Amino acid sequence: MRSASLLLGALLSGMLISSGPAVALELLYPADGTYVIRSNYLIIRGGDNPVLDGISIEINGIKSDVFTVSNPQYREAFGDFLVVEPDLDPGENLITIEGYAEDKPPVKTSAKVFFLKDPAAVPPGNYRPYVMHLPEREALCVKCHNMTPTAKALAGVTATNPCASCHARMLNRKHVHGPAGVYQCTYCHDQNSKPAKYQVKPQSDAAMCGDCHSDKVAEFRKNKFVHGPIEAGMCLVCHDSHATNEIAQLILPVNTLCLNCHAGVDTTVHVLRGISSGKSHPLEGSVDPSNSGRSFSCASCHNPHGGMSEKLFVRDISDRMLLCKVCHQK
Ligand code: HEC
Ligand code: HEC
Ligand code: HEC
Ligand code: HEC
Ligand code: HEC
Ligand code: HEC
Ligand code: HEC
Ligand code: HEC
Repeated sequence: MRSASLLLGALLSGMLISSGPAVALELLYPADGTYVIRSNYLIIRGGDNPVLDGISIEINGIKSDVFTVSNPQYREAFGDFLVVEPDLDPGENLITIEGYAEDKPPVKTSAKVFFLKDPAAVPPGNYRPYVMHLPEREALCVKCHNMTPTAKALAGVTATNPCASCHARMLNRKHVHGPAGVYQCTYCHDQNSKPAKYQVKPQSDAAMCGDCHSDKVAEFRKNKFVHGPIEAGMCLVCHDSHATNEIAQLILPVNTLCLNCHAGVDTTVHVLRGISSGKSHPLEGSVDPSNSGRSFSCASCHNPHGGMSEKLFVRDISDRMLLCKVCHQK
């Protein structure tokens, strides 16, 4: 059985609206039947049918305390919205929201959501991606967020940039990609795409990334041996465009990433074949002897983009024996 994790009751922001037709309690994000790649927030709309005093959230059987949404200051700032940070379990999650109003039976809504925690995995076919930036969805936010930013506002490089009011959280990672860190989101996301705004401009990874890293891409291609994925023009199989906790914004720790495509390297004798029978060379460690600022990993010996040897050794090394000397003096 998977461990049901507790909803992290962190209240990020809450929001009551009264005008317009009656709306019932609703989970706006993530919607029923969608998958998410981050357990970042639940966006709940309390509605006015009935007007709620409190909301509780249950994820996979674990129920939160009741969030009070009736006090006037709260209503003033957040209307009938409640945004909380959940702790979703990897895989399928059942989210049940209950709303309480005086003298009324609780109102209830639930949603099944898939949390794709492993960025290299593929979501099950019965779950669809969530799409936020559709006109009908954005219309619900305009009262408090700038949903039609000008080019000047979008050029802003600080947290006053209009994208930051909702997306700053995705940059709370150790390694932030240059342009994302300064909110140049629309460099890669098309403000005029339809029906959904901010779709990624249609181009290959290599073209998108090469726009700013043309020198790197040229350097990769100059290698006598180009690594398979690079040859195929792929960058996003390894790098995230925004921010992660791994060096170079890798989507996974280096070794996990490599082993996803090269299964078996860690279970067979690697490097030492023919030298000391049966014993494998270590494949990871806290310090790389050739670069003390780095952890020891597959990338200490192999260049992830390409090299002058078939085995893509680092530092353009073409001879196996010269590779050993990078770390072992003899
Ligand atoms: C009645 C006002 C109001 C409405 C309507 C509203 N919000 Fe907000 N929202 C806020 C306030 C206030 C904050 C906190 C802003 C801040 O901290 O800078 C916020 C913050 C957020 C955050 C950031 C949470 C975090 O800390 O990471 C998200 C995401 C968000 N809103 C999404 C939405 C979406 C999506 C809509 C429309 C479906 C919406 N909001 C409609 C007032 C509102
Ligand atoms: C009112 C809050 C809000 C604002 C402002 C906002 N977004 Fe979003 N955006 C969301 C939410 C909520 C999602 C879905 C959850 C997620 O992916 O974090 C989303 C999703 C996206 C997606 C994924 C595709 C989609 O439509 O779901 C992109 C791309 C995106 N936003 C780009 C931007 C850019 C660029 C800006 C600034 C021009 C921006 N957003 C401003 C709330 C907002
Ligand atoms: C260097 C190009 C680039 C920049 C800059 C960039 N993005 Fe993206 N973004 C992408 C690509 C490419 C994808 C699609 C990811 C995929 O399919 O693997 C994406 C996907 C997304 C998604 C949906 C998937 C996810 O990771 O949640 C959101 C939300 C998003 N971007 C928001 C933003 C925001 C907000 C900014 C600015 C802070 C931004 N992006 C800056 C390239 C970029
Ligand atoms: C708008 C220009 C721009 C685009 C487009 C862009 N980058 Fe970057 N990238 C930068 C800047 C600026 C930096 C930070 C300065 C630096 O280290 O070069 C950076 C840094 C990086 C780094 C970290 C470098 C290091 O030394 O740790 C990686 C990895 C990276 N980008 C990969 C990509 C990938 C993959 C893409 C395509 C999805 C991409 N970039 C698209 C501008 C861009
Ligand atoms: C197979 C996985 C993989 C692919 C595919 C990949 N990278 Fe990398 N990349 C890495 C790793 C691992 C590092 C960190 C290497 C190190 O410094 O130890 C890195 C580092 C980088 C850096 C910073 C270090 C440097 O070499 O300057 C840039 C920039 C970069 N990659 C750009 C790209 C671009 C652009 C693409 C697509 C053309 C791409 N990468 C494709 C794995 C990959
Ligand atoms: C998306 C899948 C993918 C990822 C991730 C990946 N590789 Fe590869 N790799 C390939 C493909 C495809 C080839 C070329 C076909 C082959 O020889 O297996 C290749 C070839 C290689 C080769 C040359 C193999 C030979 O026999 O000549 C080495 C070495 C290598 N990769 C190391 C790595 C390292 C180290 C990482 C992590 C930084 C990594 N790969 C990540 C797909 C991947
Ligand atoms: C200490 C250096 C070193 C480390 C660390 C290392 N390799 Fe290698 N790797 C080599 C050498 C040397 C070869 C060439 C094998 C030979 O000469 O027999 C090789 C060969 C390969 C090949 C080609 C196929 C094969 O098995 O011969 C792949 C794929 C590969 N390595 C992937 C990886 C991956 C993935 C990791 C991390 C899990 C890794 N390597 C870690 C040195 C290293
Ligand atoms: C990027 C650095 C690096 C490279 C290159 C490298 N090694 Fe190592 N090697 C290590 C580390 C780290 C260890 C474990 C700590 C130690 O013993 O120094 C190690 C340990 C060893 C050991 C002892 C294994 C054990 O389990 O005690 C042998 C033998 C060895 N390496 C041989 C080689 C050979 C042969 C090559 C070249 C094909 C090579 N190494 C290339 C870093 C490297």
